[in-house]
Amino acid sequence: MRFENTLQCVKCGKDLKKIKEGYSCGRHKFLGDIPDFILNKKELEKEFNAQETAVGNYGGIQTNKAITMSWRNWKKKLIVDKKGLVLDNGCGPGKLSLVIPEGNVIVGSDISLDMLREAKKRIKYLVRAQAEKLPFKDKTFDVVYTDSMLHHLKNPEDGVKEIFRVLKDDGIAVVSETHAALVNRKLRRDAYKDTKRFGPWHKNFEKEELIKIIKPYFEIYSMENVSYLGYMYEGTNRKLKCNKLLMAGFLGFDKIISNIPVVKNQSWHIILKLRKK
Ligand SMILES: C[S@@+](CC[C@H](N)C(=O)[O-])C[C@H]1O[C@@H](n2cnc3c(N)ncnc32)[C@H](O)[C@@H]1O
Ligand SMILES: [Zn+2]
Repeated sequence: MRFENTLQCVKCGKDLKKIKEGYSCGRHKFLGDIPDFILNKKELEKEFNAQETAVGNYGGIQTNKAITMSWRNWKKKLIVDKKGLVLDNGCGPGKLSLVIPEGNVIVGSDISLDMLREAKKRIKYLVRAQAEKLPFKDKTFDVVYTDSMLHHLKNPEDGVKEIFRVLKDDGIAVVSETHAALVNRKLRRDAYKDTKRFGPWHKNFEKEELIKIIKPYFEIYSMENVSYLGYMYEGTNRKLKCNKLLMAGFLGFDKIISNIPVVKNQSWHIILKLRKK
């Protein structure tokens, strides 16, 4: 499958063809080396700014080994066996592409040009597009990964509908989201007051809330709570450089926590694996 054959116009729905400066359906043009499909830039201004700050904070793939060890540890848990054409939906700096195995063709999509420029270092095929209006034909992807993105949307259900639309009938969708549990709820809520770092619709899903928007479209065949102490320790890196040995210890604890009933629900993230209904 050639990348350009997956694209459709976000304005009229017609197939897109490659032109010199980007892509066109004949009536509408989408330009740039990372083609730009955003329909309403004004509304997204605050989110763009927040992501520009985020690239500086956590976006660039950091060289700190302890941090890398931590995010790789839980991001690897998203990966499914199914291979083929894969969408990294809200790819940010393209971290996930570093744990997606060989044998897949990865397409990344995000609204933030700052994030996409960083992702360009590791993902070949990229589009600048809104998750609520993806520039892809129906039933295109074998796997759609949506990692920590839905909670940025004004209306997350619109994002879920698009995942459903662009996924093949026998495809698999993986949704990983921030998770509001008793211990982390207040910590997260306080952090979100920093409007430079977080966009206007940024939230923290309760498990039931997330399930409610997904269930009309997908069967949830796996649900896993992930990231505890290691993730918290990651957060301290901005002030004090994380130590690799200490991180290994925290990740060891995390493994134990993830097997204790009830306690394991206090995770910072939750991973859902889905099949189309
Ligand atoms: C927390 S980051 C996650 C990035 C990446 N998936 C990861 O886990 O490293 C959230 C990402 O969602 C993107 N985003 C926010 N609103 C979006 C929208 N409406 N459509 C697509 N992406 C969006 C942001 O630009 C940002 O890159
Ligand atoms: Zn068009």
